[in-house]
Amino acid sequence: MQIQDVFAAYSDEMRQIEIHLDRYITSDVKLIPEVAHHLIDSGGKRFRPLLQLISSRLCGYSGEHRFPLAASIEFIHTASLLHDDVIDEAVIRRGKTSANNVWGNAASVLVGDFLYSKAFKLLSEIGDIKIVQLMSKMTNIMSEGEVFQLMKCGDTNLTEAEYLSIVEKKTAVLISAACESGAVLGGASPTQIEALEQYGYKIGMAFQITDDTLDYMAKEEDFGKSIGKDLEEGKMTLPLIYTLAKCTETERDKTRKTIEKKAFSPDTIRDIFTLIQKSGGIDYSLNRAQQFIGEAKDGLKVFADSPGKDHLLAVAEYILSRKT
Ligand code: IPE
Ligand code: IPE
Ligand code: MG
Ligand code: MG
Repeated sequence: MQIQDVFAAYSDEMRQIEIHLDRYITSDVKLIPEVAHHLIDSGGKRFRPLLQLISSRLCGYSGEHRFPLAASIEFIHTASLLHDDVIDEAVIRRGKTSANNVWGNAASVLVGDFLYSKAFKLLSEIGDIKIVQLMSKMTNIMSEGEVFQLMKCGDTNLTEAEYLSIVEKKTAVLISAACESGAVLGGASPTQIEALEQYGYKIGMAFQITDDTLDYMAKEEDFGKSIGKDLEEGKMTLPLIYTLAKCTETERDKTRKTIEKKAFSPDTIRDIFTLIQKSGGIDYSLNRAQQFIGEAKDGLKVFADSPGKDHLLAVAEYILSRKT
């Protein structure tokens, strides 16, 4: 089963989610819908809402609360992208000029805050304290992850364990919460809730690791964002961390110097890309992602065979093959 088939199985619900997203970003303060529409209408994958829908269906829930919940999850994701693009000084996002590049940093930060607070307004209206608790705990960890990443920017001694901790906090916990909250809506058993939380966490880890690997190997037209951006930002990600551990001392010193002095030119960047390829940094990272995917799929065995379970298995596979 391909990812398009999974989306097709939820097309009515996905349409509802689009309607809800649209409805919730109305405001008399015109800059808010303007900035929010720019990003929300520019073709995000809606990967996190999809996961929440699958988890809800798998756990037997088909009620109305799915839509504000999915909207709040996508809003938290959107807010994190608005903020992330300010921090990373991004120029493109989803193949379009990024919001910070059109309206400036202040507008991006403030509209991001609007979306965050709107998300919690929607969550509180659902009226399930368990969902409010898991979502608020999650966003707090996300913020921690972004700050930790900021602290470690340009630190060429970053370890794989520290890198994985950043990935967990900035990316995996949101994907995990999308799955877990779907299960909570369905009144699933603690074992099932835990299984979906873990599944989301593992695919979330794999999702960010592949994203970081694509940053070294994707085509910009497919990826919708600049390639090689992490390196230029001083963001130490797995392909580079592995390479620095495996290459010769001379190569390591040279690479470290380039990063620490921010001496990026087409030549120094190409040298680092070549070194990463040669040292197996790409293969190592893709294997690490594959390992997380294997564990994610394994954890689903607490569920009996069903279409919903097949959808989750297909989503897990898709993460390893995505180009966008
Ligand atoms: C981008 O997430 C941010 C990361 C966690 C790498 P997505 O790749 O899900 O972004 P969109 O929503 O599809 O643009
Ligand atoms: C992921 O970080 C974004 C968030 C989790 C907020 P990145 O900086 O790696 O994401 P992209 O590459 O800009 O999408
Ligand atoms: Mg970024
Ligand atoms: Mg990235």
